[in-house]
Amino acid sequence: MRRPILAGNWKMYKTPAETCVFFEKFLPLVAHSTHCEIVVCPPFVDLNPAIEAARGSAIEVGGQNLFWAKEGAYTGEISAPMLKAVGCRWVLVAHSERRQYFGETNATAAKKLVAALDAGLTPIYCVGETLAEREAGNTNQVLETQLSGGLGDLTLEQFRRIVIAYEPVWAIGTGKVATPEIAEEAHAFIRSQAQSKFGADAAAACRILYGGSVKPDNIKGLMAQPDIDGALVGGASLDPASFAAIVNF
Ligand code: PGA
Repeated sequence: MRRPILAGNWKMYKTPAETCVFFEKFLPLVAHSTHCEIVVCPPFVDLNPAIEAARGSAIEVGGQNLFWAKEGAYTGEISAPMLKAVGCRWVLVAHSERRQYFGETNATAAKKLVAALDAGLTPIYCVGETLAEREAGNTNQVLETQLSGGLGDLTLEQFRRIVIAYEPVWAIGTGKVATPEIAEEAHAFIRSQAQSKFGADAAAACRILYGGSVKPDNIKGLMAQPDIDGALVGGASLDPASFAAIVNF
């Protein structure tokens, strides 16, 4: 009942020309992949070429970040209506690298989520603990704070339109994927938190993606878990063949 989502987060990789090359190779590899939603989140300068290249296919495009104001004197920022206007359907919110290097917090995430929803985008809200937090036994507490801080002000109707990504920071870009069991435990906890805030139906319908060193050889085990509804893929989404292999798990 929860349609899987396989989303690629290109981070700060690829030029517009490289984006066109990617899509040329990727499109035929996923032309018959109707079992899931496929999303690519490239850097802002690649959005237009990605959207043009994906036109007519099932692939949708998303931003990696947004600012919460609609427009204004915010040098260097991009708004939700701007993303929508170029043809984005999705946007990542509060990726751990945004939290780590650019000072994003649960409070700024909350504003970005609402801005994305107001513009008709589907936000993917990223949460996850650091290695130190996991080793200190604080994983659930960290997730609870990130969820209540980021999602706390959403209405039930708004919550129904978001996607959550669980990305343990210690697994991102490290090659250390969480075992399916560790990931499932966190996903089940996130779903239980959603249930206490938004009710059983909305929690059961909410799609929760796993992110952190997802590769073609570990996606199957992750997807076999009952509460894992897809993946947010960094490094392995840059190569058309490996991202296609993940999509076609
Ligand atoms: P990774 O990144 O797949 O390269 O670990 C995942 C992410 O940061 O979304």
